[in-house]
Formats: sequence, C-alpha cells, structure tokens
Amino acid sequence: MRLDRTSFAKRIGAYAEAIALPAQPVAEGRLLRMVGLTLEAEGLRAAVGSRCRVINDDGYHAVEVEAEVMGFSGSKVFLMPVGSVAGIAPGARVVPLDDNGRLPMGMSMLGRVLDGAGRALDGKGGMKAEDWVPMEGPTINPLNREPISQPLDVGIRSINGLLTVGRGQRLGLFAGTGVGKSVLLGMMTRFTEAEIIVVGLIGERGREVKEFIEHILGEEGLKRSVVVASPADDAPLMRLRAAMYCTRIAEYFRDKGKNVLLLMDSLTRFAQAQREIALAIGEPPATRGYPPSVFAKLPKLVERAGNGEAGGGSITAFYTVLSEGDDQQDPIADSARGVLDGHFVLSRRLAEEGHYPAIDIEASISRVMPQVVEHQHLREAQKFKQLWSRLSQSRDLISVGAYVAGGDPETDLAIALQGKLVSYLRQALDENVSMAQSRAQLAEVFAAPAPGA
Ligand SMILES: Nc1ncnc2c1ncn2[C@@H]1O[C@H](COP(=O)(O)OP(=O)(O)O)[C@@H](O)[C@H]1O
Ligand SMILES: [Mg+2]
Repeated sequence: MRLDRTSFAKRIGAYAEAIALPAQPVAEGRLLRMVGLTLEAEGLRAAVGSRCRVINDDGYHAVEVEAEVMGFSGSKVFLMPVGSVAGIAPGARVVPLDDNGRLPMGMSMLGRVLDGAGRALDGKGGMKAEDWVPMEGPTINPLNREPISQPLDVGIRSINGLLTVGRGQRLGLFAGTGVGKSVLLGMMTRFTEAEIIVVGLIGERGREVKEFIEHILGEEGLKRSVVVASPADDAPLMRLRAAMYCTRIAEYFRDKGKNVLLLMDSLTRFAQAQREIALAIGEPPATRGYPPSVFAKLPKLVERAGNGEAGGGSITAFYTVLSEGDDQQDPIADSARGVLDGHFVLSRRLAEEGHYPAIDIEASISRVMPQVVEHQHLREAQKFKQLWSRLSQSRDLISVGAYVAGGDPETDLAIALQGKLVSYLRQALDENVSMAQSRAQLAEVFAAPAPGA
C-alpha cells in the first residue's frame, strides 16, 4: 500500500513533524534513447508506475505520446509508450503527469465499444461519464468477501447441469485456436442472467474484434455489455491497460451492487503483453521466455474479480487461455489453472466432430459446484460424467464392433444412454437453456429405464 504524505505523517505521529519531508520537486526529463519499445529518459524524477507525457516539439511538428515509468537504473528512467511513438525524436521532453489517470465510468457505457483508455471505437461519439475513477480498484479484505454460494445461470445446458458456475467464481476457458471459445463467450453474453456484462478483447486480431461484436455478440448481446477492445497491433502497454480497464469497469458496477459477468479473451494475450514489456525493459526471461513479473501480474488481475463484501455485488469472470493440444507444460495455462476456481477445456476432437459447444466434460471442473447445487443434482452430474467417461474409454472398441454387450454393466448402460448423453451436451447457437431446464433434463437422462433393463 502506498501512503500519501498526510497519512504517512499520521502513522508516525509527531515525529513526522520533526523530519517533515521536503516536497520532491517533480522534474521533467529529456529523452535519451529508444531501444526496441523502451524509451530511456534522463533528468526525470518520477516514480515507477507514474504517467508521463513525451512531447516532441521541434518547431516543425508537435507530437505527444503518453508513457508509463516501468523501471530505472541509476539516473536513467525507462518508460513504455501507451501509443504510437512515430515522430518522437531524441531530446523530446518527458513531463511527469501529476496523477495516475482517471477513467470514465457510467451506465451510458452499456452498448459501447471502447479502447483501453475509454475512448470510443464505435464511432458513436464520446460517452457521458458519470464518474471518473482512478485506475487502481479498491482492495477487498479477503476475509470480508462474500463466499460463493449462489449458482449463476449461464444459459448453456452442459455448464448449468454438469459444471455449475457460482456467482463470483473465476473460471478459465482452455482451448487451442478455432475450437469455439469466442462463440461460447458470445452465447454466455446473450444468455447469462447477469445485469451487466463486460467483455475484454485483448490482443486478438482486429478482424476478430469486429466479427465478435457484429456476428457473435449481435445487437441483443451488445445492449447489455460494455466491450473494451485492444487488438494485437496496439502497444503492449495499451493491451495491459485494456485488461485492467475492463476489470475496473466490472469492479465499478460490482461496487454499485450489480451482478457482473466479466469475459476476457484472452488471458494468454494479456500475459504476452506483459512479457513484451518486461523483456523490453531488461527483465530476464525465466520460464519458456516468460519473465517472473508475468506470473506476478496474472493473480493480481484475476484476484480483482470475485464477490464483493457481504451484501454487495459480484463479478463472475471467464478468462480464455490458449492451450494447444495436450500441452500441459504451457506456463501460462499452468499458472492460470492455479489462480482460477475451475477450468473448462474445449476439445478439438469434439469440435471436429461438430459436437458444439465442444466442452470436454471429463477434463473440466468447476471447483465451487458442490457449494452451489443440491446434493441430488451433484450426484446426477457425477453419474453423467462417469457414464460419459466409460463411453470415451470404450469408444475404439465400440467403433470396431469389438465390444461385447454384457462385458461391463456400466458400459452397457452408457451405450444405451449414449444418444441422450450426446444430445444433452450439444446445444444450438441460439438455444438458451435455463438452469431449471438444464436441471430437469439432467434428471430425465436417468429417468426412463434403459432399453433391455
Ligand atoms: N456452438 C457452435 N456451433 C456451431 N459452430 C461453432 C460453434 N462454436 C464454434 N463453431 C465454429 O468454430 C469456428 C471457430 O470458433 P471461434 O469461437 O471463433 O473459435 P476460437 O475463439 O476458439 O478461436 C466458428 O467460426 C464456427 O464455425
Ligand atoms: Mg476467438
């Protein structure tokens, strides 16, 4: 925690009067070098994390870009630009800004598409800010957080029924590219019973941003959402800020007592943006090219989601994580699994079979499900998973006709119910299945006696 001068003085009482620190003059500096993405300034007195404006005004053209202090070495200060540095020349002025920046907030954000600094990307003009809030969100004492006890209806049958999500839970959506992450997020945006939905599109290709908003989210989805987009060609610091901004928006609405759904696509691109920055300012890579600061940033971001203090709102969050094939070694996927309360794995095999949503229910887990559903529901979900896993174990035998009926009663039952199991898991794009329906249909799977039984 950073203390300002007054609270510092209060802490140490009268003694502070005696040693009263002289105000540090904020000194502007000059740009010395630029290596890769990093700007190096001299003569600048600004703390790590503070914002500066780099101003190039040589009489011919004036260019300005915002930059953030990332580190220092001796009298040199390293900065990362938030935008394009085209037109910035040696000797440019580096002027510290006196606050850490405030971000616009308000109900008028709903239905809007913004960049990482809160500027409109959708051509609908500036939005009317009701509040300007500091970038840093409020910290919540972990002991005061409301525990997760309520289920959240996300409108997806297999999730509602077998991998129930709790209000305030943070989940990872693990998958390779092109297996349906964005489509699934889009369905949840349209179907979830949350009051406010915040979507962060971080580090995706620009084309995908447009496609997500126009086709996957659609008008209906966009109406209840705020979208913050920072595509792959934004400066890495802008991508980081966008991830923090959408988290901040979610916090803002949570603190107004709302139940918020936060969808971030993707956490991997957020980690990669941090990697670009850390490597650029000289941090040594540790795990597979990722410097240690990346693994410090992930929990910091993710911990901000979750329930608020008792009686307040909640942020239920889904973060997509790129993980190719069976690569369990990917350090980001590994680290994300550790900080999240569950992970849903999308399987390429299922997607290739046209089985959508391609959620691999065997490999997926919702760690809070036992806390938010009834005992009977949990038992049926476990039963379902056991049968499904029997099916996939004997899949090869069955497909070549080598499985002999009667060999194993559980497998027999699984085969008899196969059609029901599959149709339970599959769901059309525009089909919204409520929690009650998911629950009832799960009971139905087991209700009728299996043929021949
Ligand atoms: N639920 C679904 N129903 C039908 N097709 C789907 C579904 N989910 C994904 N797809 C197909 O898979 C493609 C890739 O999905 P997408 O969500 O963009 O993948 P990702 O975001 O994981 O890269 C889509 O363009 C679509 O053709
Ligand atoms: Mg996608």
